[in-house]
Order: sequence, then structure tokens, then C-alpha cells
Amino acid sequence: MKIAHLSDLHFCSAFKRTNIGKTKRVLKYAVERGFDHLVITGDVSDNSEVKDYITLRRLLESFNLLDPAKTSIVIGNHDIFGGAQRAIDVVNFPAKCIQTDYNAKVKEFTDYFRELFDGVYRPAVDKIFPYAKQVGDTVLIGLNSIDVYSRLKNPFASNGRVSNEQFDNLMKIFNLEEYKGLKKCVMIHHHFYKNNIEATASKSLLWNKIESFTLKLRGKKKLLRAFSENDVVAVFHGHSHEIKEYYRKKIKFFNAGATIDNGDETKASIFLTEITPDGVTSELKSISSQLIKIPEGNPILFNSKHAYAEVS
Ligand SMILES: [Fe+2]
Repeated sequence: MKIAHLSDLHFCSAFKRTNIGKTKRVLKYAVERGFDHLVITGDVSDNSEVKDYITLRRLLESFNLLDPAKTSIVIGNHDIFGGAQRAIDVVNFPAKCIQTDYNAKVKEFTDYFRELFDGVYRPAVDKIFPYAKQVGDTVLIGLNSIDVYSRLKNPFASNGRVSNEQFDNLMKIFNLEEYKGLKKCVMIHHHFYKNNIEATASKSLLWNKIESFTLKLRGKKKLLRAFSENDVVAVFHGHSHEIKEYYRKKIKFFNAGATIDNGDETKASIFLTEITPDGVTSELKSISSQLIKIPEGNPILFNSKHAYAEVS
């Protein structure tokens, strides 16, 4: 099975205007090249805004990908708590997080992508996560790794945690008779690095520094053990903004965190992976475009608020 993987789209019309165009470009390439399933591992919106979900919905629709057999998605911390684009946002961020209704935000996200959860197996009927769907001879499992806000334990809302309840439900998926013997892939927002590394999730340097200290996933050892004992062959994630392939417990991990939101307005990439009986293969396809500055006020070319246009 061929899986295309993107993460951390960070759509944000005010500060990251080229991310939408870059996503469209890599999707077009991947669709033309051919794959069986698209995986998006969270942080669709930089600031938890529904207009960004609508943008992704339209993009997926335009490629006939708004279909549970073709696309799977999990939630990221920015989809719940948003982020900080300016210094003043950093100051106001804790107050914003306290006011955030975590469950309502998860519902909002999953409602906007409801078609992608059609027919999935959910051990907790009142919750979307964790879920599982069989695509071909592979089972895709989606987890919500976003921890609730806490002034002490999660002061910048970017730490991860898979609750005990979610872990128990994950085990129900692993123990399901019809999934026995099938290869499994996990989709989760947070990484499984041994150490924290720097993230570049925001234009704000101060914010980058703060996030780099607060990216950890609590309880990852327990999760890793469960993955390795239950035929998980690949884990797709993002969160830390870099591109990386690595192994933990002989499982292949893909971090697509910098495929789109990478600080370069012209560069985008996508992981094209394949789950085969012999193992997991991968290719990172990077696509660059020229960025042409359009003179303001040009009546022919300047037809939107965007000061730049991308050409492939
Ligand atoms: Fe994130």
C-alpha cells in the first residue's frame, strides 16, 4: 500500500500565506504520481480557525480525496489551542488556553472532516479518537496526542499525552480479531524522539524557543511497547518542524513536520511511502517553485490581497 504523508500545514492567511499553495502543489504531484492513501498528521490550522479547515476540505475535494478510503487525518495542538504569531500573542497565550474548551475544539475539528471518519472502528462510541480503518491489507490507527492545558504541566499547550482511556481503547483495536495478523500504521501528531529538539512552528523566535522545551509526549515508552507488540510497522507524525525518518523498536517513523511549514516560501515536500510484505520503503519528494513579486496596484496581475504569486 502506498501512503502519501503530510503534516503541519499551518494554514494561516495572515502570516503564512504560501502554505496553501504549497500543499496544493505537492498534492497535485502525488495524485499524478499515484498513491492509495493520504495521511495528514495534525496542525492543519496555525491558529485553530475553521476557515483553514474549510480551505483544506475544498483542497481535498478538488482532488477527490475527501473520502475515508483515500484520506485519514489526526488532530494537532494548533488545531485546539492555536499558536502565537506575534510577541503580544505569546503574552496572551496562557489566558487564551485557559478559555479554550478542549472537547469542543476536538469536536469542531472532527466535524469539519466528518467524511474522513465515516465507517471507522471507534472503541469509544462517544469519541472519534482512537479510530481504526482497514485500507487494503493495512490497518490505519489514528490517535489524539494533544494534552489538555495546564499552567504547570503543559504551560504552552504543545506537550503530548495519550490518556489511559485512549490507551485502553487502542488495545481494543489491537485485540480485534479481524485485524489480527494485518500490518498496522499509527497516525499521531507528536514525535517519539529520545530528546526534545527545536521546533519552528511559528514566525515568532521567542515562541520557537518556548515550544522547543515543551514538545514532549508523555508515556511514549508504554506506547512504543504496545506498537512493537502489535504489528505496527510505521508511525506517521509531525509536530516538530523538520523532516526525518528514524527507527524506534524496529518500527519506521516518519516526521513530515516541515514538508509545508518550513520557513521557505518556495519549497514544499511530501513523503511517498510504501508498506510492502518485506518492509517499509520511502521517498521524500521536494518540489520548488519560483516566487514572483507582483507589483502592487497592477490591475492585471494583482487581483487578490496576496502580494506574491507562485509559479511551478
Ligand atoms: Fe504541533
